[in-house]
Amino acid sequence: MDASQAVPILADHFVAQPASGASKPDCYRELLAQLATLLSGETDGLANAANFSALLYQVLPGLNWVGFYFVRGEELVLGPFQGKVACIRIGLGRGVCGTAAQKRETVVVPDVHSFPGHIACDAASRSEIVVPLLRAGKLLGVLDLDSPERARFDDDDRAGLEAAVQLLLAASDLSRLL
Ligand code: SME
Repeated sequence: MDASQAVPILADHFVAQPASGASKPDCYRELLAQLATLLSGETDGLANAANFSALLYQVLPGLNWVGFYFVRGEELVLGPFQGKVACIRIGLGRGVCGTAAQKRETVVVPDVHSFPGHIACDAASRSEIVVPLLRAGKLLGVLDLDSPERARFDDDDRAGLEAAVQLLLAASDLSRLL
């Protein structure tokens, strides 16, 4: 089965009560296998980051934005994404993205209205998770996911998305994006 055929099946697994009975960690394990297939044989960082954001947007339920910001000097600059047009530059330490970048750790925000300094690119966003991209201790950027649902992201999402980012970093040459 090629990647495009597998996506609808995988998306079905992630619904609240999947017919398969699969748990959320099981679904992430399948997503990671799917990602590995999607990224195999291609090292171009831009292409892989673009397909990565498309796969997550297609497969994970309850999202209104998925994408990347890459480090350029003291700022994060918008990379490949799916969703509404977004702000282009975010200072390190600003918003949820800049906070995760500065702390170099995943930040989960159950209600963005309660996060001081949250940057609202899409007024529909209610919760958010931002995972830093770290290679050999160097910050390359962040992966950002937004949802219109309150408290959409939990520890299973954190673990699954951190593993997904590791796959992307291992498979891709991101040097031309920086
Ligand atoms: N909400 C983010 C800004 C990026 S958008 O959500 C795409 C933040 O507060 O950093």
